[in-house]
Amino acid sequence: MDHFLYRDGALHAEDVPVADIAAAVGTPVYIYSTATLERHYRVFDEALAGTEHFIAYAVKANGNLAVLKTLADMGAGMDVVSEGEFRRALAAGVPGNRVVFSGVGKTADELRFALSQNVRQLNVESAEELETLSGVAASMGVTAPIALRVNPDVDAKTHAKIATGKSENKFGIPISRAREVYARAAALPGIEVVGLDVHIGSQLTDLAPFEAAFSKVAELTETLRADGHAIRRLDLGGGLGIPYQHSNEAPPLPFDYGAVIKRTVGHLGCEIEIEPGRLIAGNAGILVTRVIYRKQGEGRVFLVVDAAMNDLIRPAMYEAWHDIAPVIEPAPGAEKAEVDVVGPICETGDTFARGRALPPVGPGELVAFRSAGAYGASMSSEYNGRPLIPEVLVRGDQFAVVRARPSYEEMLARDTIPDWNG
Ligand code: LLP
Repeated sequence: MDHFLYRDGALHAEDVPVADIAAAVGTPVYIYSTATLERHYRVFDEALAGTEHFIAYAVKANGNLAVLKTLADMGAGMDVVSEGEFRRALAAGVPGNRVVFSGVGKTADELRFALSQNVRQLNVESAEELETLSGVAASMGVTAPIALRVNPDVDAKTHAKIATGKSENKFGIPISRAREVYARAAALPGIEVVGLDVHIGSQLTDLAPFEAAFSKVAELTETLRADGHAIRRLDLGGGLGIPYQHSNEAPPLPFDYGAVIKRTVGHLGCEIEIEPGRLIAGNAGILVTRVIYRKQGEGRVFLVVDAAMNDLIRPAMYEAWHDIAPVIEPAPGAEKAEVDVVGPICETGDTFARGRALPPVGPGELVAFRSAGAYGASMSSEYNGRPLIPEVLVRGDQFAVVRARPSYEEMLARDTIPDWNG
């Protein structure tokens, strides 16, 4: 459920007409709903009620500081994958001891930064990283709290580009090698084992892969404990999917996901950590764009809009579907026509939807891409010389620009032309 609904014939973000924001800020623009963010955080919190738990929001989904602050105020910790994300968490007021640092390629500098910030937990993804971390921690005279990320070799049944839990994927330590690497961790200076970590992929629409992975985690936890390791936290990653096609998709609910967690690992007495990103931010955001042209092609109609693949890359990158809603509510029974919704970028891949049945929308009119709050702005670029688009956060009947559109001067000022002869 989200808070982008038609009211009085117009799409609203909570209590604010979307058209008012577009008029004030221009298009394209990302609009986020505070109430939806809060609701999604609460749903996870309730799903894990009765179990000691820690929800580390995956900053990569949407790292806007205002979004992070909203979630931190609800009690969220943060899951980060770079020093840049770590600094975002800190800037939003989240202390290092509420930050989990994940990622397959943390550099020694990033590890040093995390330790200097008293990081809650480092999810170590390889024996090689473990050696580096031990060296860094020992040189600083501190102890690094770690979980090892294991790769359980489970098929997440999601898009290949975002499946991470099969043995051929680059992530984690093969589960068959886990005991050996834990033994090494126990012997190394500067390392304290606190838990075990797994993350099998993103946009999972079936609970069975979670169940399979968490069952393997439970079994491994018992083995590792028998080996003498103090496994007191289980980080179960993120990955729960959301409905993108609202009319006919109903992915599992966080409550049922929580039930799987309790059933598979609940008996171990561990603190449960999860790292949801998409489910918290995805349906808390829309991308609003204006139609530039309704172009008649050879046997097809192209709706050319002012947003493009640099603003929202998911359709181009994962063939992802985003529902498209006109900002003015179509009359009931309004006739629909099939159109290709495309951006202005010079690539055929800059296509948001092909043959999409939409009510009539013409030049100057606004449409919204739904479910764009996660992996939208955070994956955007300035390709084709297009400035990053503004982000707006709504709260009730108020809205605030939480990232302004840069000016062309600001964009150009980042480059320098060397004076080779001077
Ligand atoms: N934890 C780790 C270690 C991750 O790698 C990820 C996502 C998450 C948590 C959060 O997963 P979520 O709850 O959001 O599914 N750009 C892609 C998604 C990439 C996901 C990468 N890792 C997309 O737009 O579909």
